Amino acid sequence: MDLRDVPRLDAGGCVLRAFRDDDAPLVLAASDDAAITRVTTVPPCADEYRARTWIRLQHARVTDRVGLPFAIADPVTDEALGQIGLWFSGVGEGRARLGYWVPARHRGRGLAGRALRTLCPWAFEVAGLARLELYVEPHNVASQRVAASAGFRWEGLLRAWETIGAERRDMVMYSRLPSDAAPTVWRATPPAAPAAVASPARGR
Ligand SMILES: CC(C)(COP(=O)(O)OP(=O)(O)OC[C@H]1O[C@@H](n2cnc3c(N)ncnc32)[C@H](O)[C@@H]1OP(=O)(O)O)[C@@H](O)C(=O)NCCC(=O)NCCS
Repeated sequence: MDLRDVPRLDAGGCVLRAFRDDDAPLVLAASDDAAITRVTTVPPCADEYRARTWIRLQHARVTDRVGLPFAIADPVTDEALGQIGLWFSGVGEGRARLGYWVPARHRGRGLAGRALRTLCPWAFEVAGLARLELYVEPHNVASQRVAASAGFRWEGLLRAWETIGAERRDMVMYSRLPSDAAPTVWRATPPAAPAAVASPARGR
């Protein structure tokens, strides 16, 4: 598998595409966002070099078949606004774990929901997966709403499931199967126009 195998998917108001070297500003924004760095591999307080290294790691994950990370991007400017990925390592055959994040300044525009609702049918119909899984911390209401909007079903609470920071944390497990009904509730309002692009901090 190589980067050419990462499709460009129209998510209606955003697109999903492979990461590019010039997506470093997104990674820098995520790296300043503790809600993202505590649960992802994005390093806190990254500089341009570390941001580009993280992007190259995403490319390696594709070629190593560890996962399929996508940038969630603006359909007009192609600016990367967030991330969503399918992850295969540590998960049984025919299954994938999903993860997503959107830096604070782009949240609340329906980006994660649109991305998830778009990636699921592709994962079933094109990638041939039989089960998609999501692990969400109980306090993370925004992520649980995103999961529900994409037709994921609550399966239960996994106690002390994984270490985040220095603590064992419970996780709520959600899944979606190809046979689950497609979500019928779709956010009707299109995402707002991108906010005036604020210069990222730390003189990047
Ligand atoms: C979770 C996350 C990806 C959501 O991104 P987003 O683009 O803002 O998501 P959407 O706009 O598609 O939807 C967010 C939903 O949560 C709701 N929401 C947001 N913050 C909320 C809060 N504090 N309490 C309750 N609901 C909340 C929104 O109203 C929306 O619900 P709706 O569509 O029913 O109105 C983003 O908050 C994030 O990156 N968080 C940090 C990383 C993370 O937690 N990733 C997920 C790990 S499982």
